[in-house]
Amino acid sequence: MPLLRLENLTVTAAGENGVKTILEDVHFEIPALSVTALVGGSGSGKTTAGLAVLGLLPPSLRVHSGQVIFDREDLMAATPQRMREIRGKEISMVFQEPLSAFNPVFSIGRQIEEVLEVHTPLNRRQRQQRVLELLDAVGLPDPKRTSENYPHQLSGGMRQRAMIAQAIAAGPKLIIADEPTSSLDVTLQAQIIELFKKLQSELKLSILLITHDLGMVEHLADHIIVMTQGRIAEQGLTREVLMNPGHAYTKELMEALG
Ligand SMILES: Nc1ncnc2c1ncn2[C@@H]1O[C@H](COP(=O)(O)OP(=O)(O)O)[C@@H](O)[C@H]1O
Ligand SMILES: [Mg+2]
Repeated sequence: MPLLRLENLTVTAAGENGVKTILEDVHFEIPALSVTALVGGSGSGKTTAGLAVLGLLPPSLRVHSGQVIFDREDLMAATPQRMREIRGKEISMVFQEPLSAFNPVFSIGRQIEEVLEVHTPLNRRQRQQRVLELLDAVGLPDPKRTSENYPHQLSGGMRQRAMIAQAIAAGPKLIIADEPTSSLDVTLQAQIIELFKKLQSELKLSILLITHDLGMVEHLADHIIVMTQGRIAEQGLTREVLMNPGHAYTKELMEALG
């Protein structure tokens, strides 16, 4: 039983020039306790696929047909209230730019605590303790001080760690990480990759990693899904696909890697 299964998901956009297909028959599975990479060029539909899973498509996009099954539950049939429960608790998302994901007027600790308040039975004192543990778990020094900082007071790398702390706060089964390192320099990228690796095995969760970075894919992902123009070009075990790429786009990516 896969943790997540997209079945022939088709997403369309209604625009002035008629209806445009953004995702066409997207079909894949994510096993429990795995890391799956979703790769593809800019505009290929990777972010849209992630947002569709979470029920967060912008108003101009809609699911035309297909299904999203998460942990045996049909998310297309879930109520808005159920989706709010699932987001943050069962599935959480890490974005490329943590500065825009955090609210600038609340401290980091307050914003992580809010996730615990919504999704766990912990009382205030327990939540505050848990925030410090979470900040420590993602490798942030001086958790007490960091929790009191506002988002703009942290460096880019620290902010990304704080967002990962928020993403794991309520013990999700799946993290969707959308280009989580592309705003960081190379050294920091490597550190964040290591952090994901550690958290995945320690916390026994699955990660859907959206990325352009084949180095990161090789390091982290058991499975790879390659998208072009809203469709799946190929998918399979990472080492098999990368050793013997079947699609022109995958070959191009490999060549770019050198
Ligand atoms: N709100 C929207 N309305 C109309 N088209 C959109 C919207 N969001 C994204 N698109 C289009 O959907 C396609 C896929 O976008 P996206 O999922 O962001 O790709 P990726 O994350 O792979 O770069 C692009 O052609 C983009 O222009
Ligand atoms: Mg994107």
